[in-house]
Amino acid sequence: MAKFVVEKSGPLVGEVSISGAKNAVLPIMAATVLTDEVCEIYDVPRLRDVDVMCQILRSLGAGVTENYEDHTVVIDGSGIDKSEIPYDLVKKMRASFFVMGPLLARTGAAFIAQPGGCSIGNRPIDLHIKGLKGLGARIVQDDNSVEAIVKELTGSLVYLDFPSVGATENIMMAASLAKGVTTIENAAEEPEIVDLANFLNKMGAKIKGAGTDTIRIEGVEHLHGTRHTVIPDRIETGTFMVAAAITRGDVLIKNSVPGHVRPVIAKLIECGAVVNDEVDGLRVRGDLRKLVATDIKTLPYPGFPTDMQAPFMALLTTVQGTSTVNETIFENRFMHAAELSRMGANIRVDGRNAYVPGDKRPLVGTSVMATDLRAGAALVLAGLVAEGRTEVADIYHIERGYENFMDKLNSLGAKITRVDD
Ligand code: UD1
Repeated sequence: MAKFVVEKSGPLVGEVSISGAKNAVLPIMAATVLTDEVCEIYDVPRLRDVDVMCQILRSLGAGVTENYEDHTVVIDGSGIDKSEIPYDLVKKMRASFFVMGPLLARTGAAFIAQPGGCSIGNRPIDLHIKGLKGLGARIVQDDNSVEAIVKELTGSLVYLDFPSVGATENIMMAASLAKGVTTIENAAEEPEIVDLANFLNKMGAKIKGAGTDTIRIEGVEHLHGTRHTVIPDRIETGTFMVAAAITRGDVLIKNSVPGHVRPVIAKLIECGAVVNDEVDGLRVRGDLRKLVATDIKTLPYPGFPTDMQAPFMALLTTVQGTSTVNETIFENRFMHAAELSRMGANIRVDGRNAYVPGDKRPLVGTSVMATDLRAGAALVLAGLVAEGRTEVADIYHIERGYENFMDKLNSLGAKITRVDD
């Protein structure tokens, strides 16, 4: 399996352009199942997870043309005639489950392997099931599979006990073709939800309120093909902002939406970084002031994103003073703390809190493991400032979700090589 070898690098300096958002493109691709017409999606990042979604759509009978050179995927849903997503695809990517709602709406049935937990937590699907049942689906599940069938989806009031991103998306997609009006209360408000709603509305759906905690979907009989450009990836944006700060560098981040990364900007400023919203993009400088500790608490949007917790923790190991990191979204999202501690960070984890003692001891390169996507990115960032050489194993996690991560960092002055074991 491949690994990254990261040498201590100087301050990162220059410009980087952010790719389309992984977490927006995956549900948007799933939503194409709702139509038998052609959808063209632009700014699609070249990622393992996108490849898996293409395989899923093909397995259902869709025609999928990937043109990676110009970041376009064209999906022709006219041939969709299957209702089953096999286990070997679901196990490659949890987001396979996002196809459940649209598949049910399109074919009247959806048979999907249980997505199961992952390294960051149990990740139950009860809210997806609750919502789809609320729309009239009959669902049976056991440890291995989920089977849903419905004659006709019917609009309903769905209250989510937690504003789950995936459940909001699944229900919004299914409700677009339901009879009558669906209202999702305590809905997730992430920008990816808004992008999906915009895509669905371009297909002919009638969705209002996406981006707030109440989404109203008036079902329609038919959705048509459309074209759509995916929003920039706010987590990739945040990761490069942290890369600039942790190396005490000066980076202009192009194709970013400042409004989507407000909490990351706020926390970087609290640490002493300078962040400017310039005409060409967000400019982050870590070289102007001494960086100091700050506390972070992950929350649903617009709070601090859980996906930025690991990269930000890497930064906090290099600043003056002790920071507390409170993870409220996933129950087991501190695996990177142990790996950072192997590099000398001496982080203490107590339940949902991690205490990061800062720069008392400098990071030292060693062999570490990317336990999940964002943990992997965090370890690469830590490697950029650790003494000597850091080897980050299991980088397939990173390649699931960051397009050209190594090349983009190297173009800013990082010294990273990819080694196939
Ligand atoms: C999405 C993102 C992921 C991000 C997460 C939280 C994609 C492809 N992935 O994942 O990168 O980290 O949002 O911002 O968009 N929950 C339940 N029952 C459910 C569903 C969720 O209890 O039926 C819980 C989860 O266990 C977790 C919390 O809700 O504790 C948030 O999960 P959710 O918002 O659903 O995350 P995903 O959509 O899986």
